[in-house]
Amino acid sequence: MSSRPVPRESIALMDGYHSPQIDVEVRLNTNESPEPPPRAFAAAVADAIGDVAWHRYPDRAATELRTRIGALHDLGPEQVFAANGSNEVLQTLLLTYGGPGRAAAMFEPTYALHSHLSRITGTSVAEGERGPGFALDLGEVERVLRTEQPAITFLCSPNNPTGVVDSPDDLRTVLDLVEEIGGLLCVDEAYGQFASHSALDLLGDDTPLVVSRTYSKTWAMAAARLGYLIGPAWVVSELEKVVLPYHLDAMTQIAGTIALDHLDAMNSRVAALVEERGRLVDRMADLPLEIWPSGANFVLFRPTTIEGREVWQQLTERSVLVRDCSSWPRLDGCLRVTVGTPAEDDRFLNALREILV
Ligand SMILES: Cc1ncc(COP(=O)(O)O)c(C=O)c1O
Repeated sequence: MSSRPVPRESIALMDGYHSPQIDVEVRLNTNESPEPPPRAFAAAVADAIGDVAWHRYPDRAATELRTRIGALHDLGPEQVFAANGSNEVLQTLLLTYGGPGRAAAMFEPTYALHSHLSRITGTSVAEGERGPGFALDLGEVERVLRTEQPAITFLCSPNNPTGVVDSPDDLRTVLDLVEEIGGLLCVDEAYGQFASHSALDLLGDDTPLVVSRTYSKTWAMAAARLGYLIGPAWVVSELEKVVLPYHLDAMTQIAGTIALDHLDAMNSRVAALVEERGRLVDRMADLPLEIWPSGANFVLFRPTTIEGREVWQQLTERSVLVRDCSSWPRLDGCLRVTVGTPAEDDRFLNALREILV
């Protein structure tokens, strides 16, 4: 038998990304929007797709989409990099500024793809710890940045899976440190619209800061795979060199542009989800749970009387799926629930009460 070719060692030893897609009635495990985009959006996209020149490559620069996204933030298209989900944005950033001989810093627990994509791109992982309540520990940030001199420092605010939002002062302090060591700060704001402030306020032409966002959550468009980064034009032009030509297909560009015609609908959905998050947390407070305050569309909690894994299992048996973080480092026994519709959240709350009380 011929021998099988092996991937490079760091890939062979790697665990892939796992998020079970189980068929249940109530899916509260991947922080998606509980409602599809407005009907008028789907109709306009269907119409526009009818006019696609299928035999031609799409606009490689995604000019219209980037212009419209830029306008949303009072910036020009040259400050916008768009890709297939913010995961591709982060991967492109790592391929460009990371790689062999370079490090990326992150403060755990945080979004698993920051370390996963670093390893995939051959970037070494400089891992720091968060402090009590999963807040940033600025002393630890300084220690990691000064000793590891990372080319990229990742923050995630609101952080996944904890929901913790970094304060404007903490963001400023980390940015100053990053600037001092000659690195680049990437603030992953996949859930930015659910929080009360954003790192977007700190952007500047000579500031080594980029902010990534996604259409998957607030825009209710996880199926389309579209994310973007806002940053200085000199970063965007480096990223454009690295990403595959024509990576963003015509349909995605159309969907992303048309979505921006529905900004009011998106804003009112975000407001409704924030309100529903408050109701969910209030109801959860009556149960034997430790709960972390969240600035996102999900809530991290730890059952205090029954093992988290057992609670996850029993919720799944009741056709309610949440994210099982119970075996993740630093999150012993924790589960994460996405804010759903009030009816979905009631299913979750009733099931949880049945299990715990
Ligand atoms: C913090 C964070 N960043 C990025 C992403 C990736 O989003 P997408 O690739 O769908 O834009 C997610 C998805 O769950 C996330 O939680």
